Amino acid sequence: MGIGRVLIVGSGGREHALAWACRRSSRDVAIMVAPGNAGTAALAENVPADVTDATGVARIASERAVDLVIIGPDAAAAAGVADACQEQGIPVFGPTAAAARIESSKTFAKQVMDTAGIPTARWLAGGADDRSRLSAFIAELEGACVVKADGLALGKGVVVCATVDAAERALDECLGELRFGDAGRHVVVEELLTGPEVSVFGLSDGRNVRTLVPARDYKRIFDGDRGANTGGMGAMAPPPDAASRAFLENVSRTVLKPCIDELREQGNPFVGCLYAGLMLTPRGMRVLEFNARFGDPETQVVLPLLDEPLLEVLMACARGEVGDGVAPAADGAAVGVVAAAAGYPGDVRRGDEITGLEELDDDVLCFQAGTALDGDGRLRTAGGRVLCITATGADVEAARARAYGNLARVHFDGLQARTDIGQPVSAGVPS
Ligand code: AMP
Ligand code: GLY
Repeated sequence: MGIGRVLIVGSGGREHALAWACRRSSRDVAIMVAPGNAGTAALAENVPADVTDATGVARIASERAVDLVIIGPDAAAAAGVADACQEQGIPVFGPTAAAARIESSKTFAKQVMDTAGIPTARWLAGGADDRSRLSAFIAELEGACVVKADGLALGKGVVVCATVDAAERALDECLGELRFGDAGRHVVVEELLTGPEVSVFGLSDGRNVRTLVPARDYKRIFDGDRGANTGGMGAMAPPPDAASRAFLENVSRTVLKPCIDELREQGNPFVGCLYAGLMLTPRGMRVLEFNARFGDPETQVVLPLLDEPLLEVLMACARGEVGDGVAPAADGAAVGVVAAAAGYPGDVRRGDEITGLEELDDDVLCFQAGTALDGDGRLRTAGGRVLCITATGADVEAARARAYGNLARVHFDGLQARTDIGQPVSAGVPS
């Protein structure tokens, strides 16, 4: 079906993994990444771009006559990159701004879940004017709740609370002090759930859903799931407690398809990666959130296990003809360990030289995120999450051993990495 040229929007490890998987699908396809990083430059052409400038991205795609645009970050989807591409008649894998509201508004997501009968935590939404109703709900939950900014807040707009005082304080910060800016002018308060978390990605053409291997990310900066939240310090796939085909089919039937059906029935068909953030609670599976994009770093362990050409699946989604069902996956498991820069997740130091990548085993992957080449062609740190070493193996333990064995060969000053990626985690401890 001839996919000659593809444009991937974004610059992180997720986009490097997408570019890698597109290259694995086809040796001949011309891959462009806007704006990309030093890792994507090695297998694709980087094109400078502002991912939230929808018309600018569509112009690049049109000028370069690309056959498919693949949207990485939520900010690009929310800014209407897919809408702008569609206006130019360019096939795009990624949701319109209206469909991306499933991620960009938590209240909207909760309404969709209720309408579609998708299992989720009990909830109440409101703004400053609804304070007394919100407080009554917090009292009913005896303070065991989560306060979430309604809008996009770089993954930081969620406060887990154990007491009424803590929850009231979180409301003050969100609604009064605008700690999360406009994103927090409205909040969702929901009941606190407990249990391990799982991420499941469904690739959709607006009607059918192709479900990928489940993954688990490790969000806190320190071992044992302690310390500040980050973009993700590593991931594994599949988590041993969510590895069965029956689990995946259940997620598809009770979570992904009902959400896709509801969005289509509302007039906003979702084309792209619908990402369900799930919690396996003692009372069964519950949806914590939907995202309108591939998760990062989960993508960096899910795609290496995919046993069919990603590029063709994404194109089939964009054309409205993807096949329903569970995508074929390799046996075994993958573990990815993130190496972050000094200071992450706060202010990070940049410019440290990265060495040792040439010593990695041939079949071990290094997906780059915050990297840049200096004037002398040396690789240097240029962001918080610098790179992720991903290895596969017969099981999680084997993959984990190889990932850490290879990470030990990588050096840059201030490198931070968790030592427990791939091991079981306790339920998250409020930071
Ligand atoms: P969200 O952005 O909604 O996925 O929330 C971010 C993180 O907050 C999740 O990955 C969970 O660790 C935690 N979280 C969200 N909702 C709940 C909940 N209802 N109960 C317990 N933890 C939650
Ligand atoms: N790994 C979490 C996220 O991508 O939001």
